[in-house]
Amino acid sequence: MGADLLYNCAPPPLPAHARVLDGPGVSAQISCSLPDGSCCPWATARPCVHPLPIPIHPHSLPVGLHRLHPFPRPAPQAAPPHVPGCWGYARFDPHAYLQNNYVPPRADFSSEECVVPWKLRCLAETFASGEICGRTLIDVGSGPTIYQLLSACEHFEEIVATDFLEVNREELRRWVRGEPGAFDWSPFIQHVCKIEGRGEPWQEKEQRLRGRLRRILPIDVHRADPLGAPLHPPADALLSTFCLEAVSPDRAAFGRALVNVGSMLRPGGHALLLGALGESFYLAGAARLPVVPLDEDDVRGALSDAGFTLRDFRSYAMPPALRTGVDDVDGVFFVHAQKPLEG
Ligand SMILES: C[S@@+](CC[C@H](N)C(=O)[O-])C[C@H]1O[C@@H](n2cnc3c(N)ncnc32)[C@H](O)[C@@H]1O
Repeated sequence: MGADLLYNCAPPPLPAHARVLDGPGVSAQISCSLPDGSCCPWATARPCVHPLPIPIHPHSLPVGLHRLHPFPRPAPQAAPPHVPGCWGYARFDPHAYLQNNYVPPRADFSSEECVVPWKLRCLAETFASGEICGRTLIDVGSGPTIYQLLSACEHFEEIVATDFLEVNREELRRWVRGEPGAFDWSPFIQHVCKIEGRGEPWQEKEQRLRGRLRRILPIDVHRADPLGAPLHPPADALLSTFCLEAVSPDRAAFGRALVNVGSMLRPGGHALLLGALGESFYLAGAARLPVVPLDEDDVRGALSDAGFTLRDFRSYAMPPALRTGVDDVDGVFFVHAQKPLEG
């Protein structure tokens, strides 16, 4: 089966039995290809409120997207206006977000050229120097994901995860507690153990990260004090993946957010950022989140304006096969920067 034409269904007024925001089981049901669509009767009984054609790989069916065979293909719609604030985040569905980004084809560990292995390699290679270590690393806008912490956790006594949304913080707690139904990060952990090359059993890394992830805190990067109070002592390292550009309405706000989160880092501390290039939106279930489209110079400029010294900058071009329709990202940047010592 090739790429299917799917439609993004705005949720209201779906009947309760048709709410499909809760896990890959429902996606599997919807993608079962019954020719009359009877696996998803409501979908064939009513048109979408806001149809949007999205070509998508069948193995990465995002939760919340439903095949609607009988309806003609509508004309593509223009992207919504860039709305400041976080109205879209009220609808952010962690499970859908994970399905969109952290299963194949984007998380295909058989290819080092795939985006997720590229991200993990950037982090593993940077931490392998041994230069970035200390007591506390803070991860800003962790979302429902822990992949970004897998190399970091070897070098810090404590990892502080943060997110604006309680649903994401709860998703992280579920993984830390090892609850059934939590997202399965084991392929990621196995891959990181492999590229780190120490022969460590992956279960040991999993336990180490669980043990070091002791605080999962609310955060708002648009505040001068993102945690609501200063972090004591300030972090030895700061990590943030796909957060600042995804929550900022424009480049100026991205720059201010960088300054705000930088305030949690001690002088001389290291900052590692992964983020989207040229992206204007992404999907997370019913939520369509605006993103400020950045180019490489925007990122370099914001780091410089925020007082960081750039140590490494890498970029990745998103291959056509990974442009699945869950966002319009052009590429990914990786930054290693350092906050100068005072004085
Ligand atoms: C694109 S997700 C990134 C998640 C994860 N770090 C990753 O690498 O996939 C953006 C995250 O930013 C969070 N967020 C939204 N508004 C925020 C804010 N004002 N301050 C900090 N985080 C925010 C969202 O809840 C979401 O988890």
